[in-house]
Amino acid sequence: MAKTKSVFVCQNCGNESAKWVGKCSACGEWNTYVEEVVLTGKSKNPTSFFSDSPQKPQKLTEIELRPEVRMNSGNSELDRVLGGGVVPGSLVLVGGDPGIGKSTLVLQVSLTLKNKTILYVSGEESLQQLKMRAQRVGKDDSECLFLSETSIEKILHHAQQTSPDLLIIDSIQTMVTERVESSPGSVGQVRECAGLILKYAKASQTPVILIGHINKEGSLAGPKVLEHMVDTVLQFEGDKNYMYRILRAIKNRFGSTSELGIFEMQQNGLREVLNPSELLLSSEHEGLSGVCIAAALEGMRPFLIEVQALVSTAVYGTPQRSSTGFDLRRMNMLLAVLEKRMGFKLGTRDVFLNIAGGIKVNDPGIDLAVLSAVLSSSVDKAANAKTAITGEVGLSGEVRSVSRIDQRIAEAEKLGFESIIIPKSNLKSVTFKTKTIRVIPVQQVKEAFQILFQD
Ligand code: TYD
Ligand code: MG
Repeated sequence: MAKTKSVFVCQNCGNESAKWVGKCSACGEWNTYVEEVVLTGKSKNPTSFFSDSPQKPQKLTEIELRPEVRMNSGNSELDRVLGGGVVPGSLVLVGGDPGIGKSTLVLQVSLTLKNKTILYVSGEESLQQLKMRAQRVGKDDSECLFLSETSIEKILHHAQQTSPDLLIIDSIQTMVTERVESSPGSVGQVRECAGLILKYAKASQTPVILIGHINKEGSLAGPKVLEHMVDTVLQFEGDKNYMYRILRAIKNRFGSTSELGIFEMQQNGLREVLNPSELLLSSEHEGLSGVCIAAALEGMRPFLIEVQALVSTAVYGTPQRSSTGFDLRRMNMLLAVLEKRMGFKLGTRDVFLNIAGGIKVNDPGIDLAVLSAVLSSSVDKAANAKTAITGEVGLSGEVRSVSRIDQRIAEAEKLGFESIIIPKSNLKSVTFKTKTIRVIPVQQVKEAFQILFQD
């Protein structure tokens, strides 16, 4: 008979302890220990190391390289983020806030894949709900198999029977295994279930997509080991008030982590956005003060975004500084540069900054556009609307070089801009052959202002 053993496991980091403790000695969190009962089989034979293993250590020259066959998911944005399609036997974890569209994304992939057997297991929704959602996204005649189940043993049994080309599990936090007696979603359950799925994926070479919840701090719920176990971690993010969703690779054993997929949530599901700039730019900014267009880069993708600033006289003693979509501390630093190096006094004025479209930009290459927008609003003079801007700003008011300058220029040209202001230090690395756009190199913030605000 199998013996049962009880251990206390930290729900934050997965550290184990024989007795309950208030503070985890590994991660320092309080009140995170929960009792978990583990079924143990026969005690392990300590001499098992010495038994013959089918695998032998090999030299690189002896290892045969098989051609990599990736499965196209039928969704170009997802394929891009995965690094060119789904790798056989790989485990992909898709995380994101509740309601962001994780289930919709994987459902749409399952419904559009042709001539493949797909097993979609949902522990969160009933078959009725799945059918309703499939009808909503407009495809209910697909060959995809659906299962509403939470027992991992039963799921793997069905998977073995149907041997799907792709297995989808929505979500890992609702799955339970008989081997652990704690409740679904606890560290022990998540770890055991993921372990069993991993074993199945590697043995049968079936790719598996797992959906994972994230906690209120924004990281994936469950043990950190989950992220180590899987091959790829994708994060689905976006502001719920806006329709854009960004799929980002946080970890990828089979591709780069700087790729980005962009979607738009519509009435009938997610739509791939192949040209993000067109969505983010409104054409109505001509002649308005406080608006500048930045050629930014998120991941590997260039896009043009509208930076909006509003500078007004502070009503209260302390002026307000607020920023949406851009780091507030960085904005404060840029304002200090404007004050110290350019002599614009903003000490008694409120400054509000907004990146239109509800996206967050981490690229320092939009610094110059931020400063220009603030200045434009401050003096109430519209910047040249046909000029895009790119450049990082240093503390002494110098314009510093940015990465991937060619892509930024190409994107601005594609969208019909007449000119683009770039850092002078970037000029020698420009290899892009411009056709219609004029490239204006600048060394100091001042020079950029002269170009943007000349009549
Ligand atoms: P869902 O995929 O259930 O999110 P998750 O699995 O990440 O929790 O997405 C649900 C949200 O998406 C819900 O608020 C409604 C919206 N939605 C649409 O706007 N259009 C659609 O076609 C679908 C299916 C969902
Ligand atoms: Mg869901």
